[in-house]
Amino acid sequence: MPNFIMYEDRNVKAKGLNKENVISETKLKEYFYDSDYDNLSLIKTIEPFELHVPIPTLFYPGCGVDILFPLHYLNALFPRTKEVHFVFMDTENTLGIIKTILDDVGISFSENKTFINFYWNNTLVNLEFKTANVFKNIDSLPQFHIYFERAFRIMRDTFPGYEEIIIKKLHNDGILISDSGFQDKKLQYKEVPKSLSSYNEMVLATK
Ligand SMILES: C[S@@+](CC[C@H](N)C(=O)[O-])C[C@H]1O[C@@H](n2cnc3c(N)ncnc32)[C@H](O)[C@@H]1O
Repeated sequence: MPNFIMYEDRNVKAKGLNKENVISETKLKEYFYDSDYDNLSLIKTIEPFELHVPIPTLFYPGCGVDILFPLHYLNALFPRTKEVHFVFMDTENTLGIIKTILDDVGISFSENKTFINFYWNNTLVNLEFKTANVFKNIDSLPQFHIYFERAFRIMRDTFPGYEEIIIKKLHNDGILISDSGFQDKKLQYKEVPKSLSSYNEMVLATK
């Protein structure tokens, strides 16, 4: 039987930036289904990307409460990246739960309204949370260097031309990471274990 994950917003207070954070592997594990946790090791088998940008922007629409998957991909695929700007967008304001998850696993953060900053294994993450509908804002989205998508297929399948717009917004040489769709586009695809996606469609590609 799958394990049960409990999400809550405990209104945790910012304790400030701390480069010496120690991530609790026990707590971390509690935030993953066992099969997903086991799959994390597969990410490490993928050859890392070179991104020639000092502070890349990663865009994650429909993020929900998921902060931990993009962080694991970041460390495994972009080991040279020392600072990153995360733009998370969801129709629900889940930032309180994301802060609680970080606090639980041992990551302290600083905050300013809808921005939080923290270190994840020596990478400085500046996270900007936007409570918004991605489809209503798609034309005004700024460009990004990394696109991250997970468990968003049902929602974005309702929006015609979504993939083309996302690819247009991705910088040249930018990286697309998605657990569904984006098949047969003009992208350079990397060989990846398909089981990283629950739809068996994992895509990692460079524009
Ligand atoms: C199935 S959940 C996936 C959450 C997360 N990506 C994950 O892997 O755990 C889908 C998320 O998409 C969000 N969502 C649905 N429609 C959206 C829209 N039009 N714009 C932004 N977010 C949306 C929902 O609020 C929900 O958090």
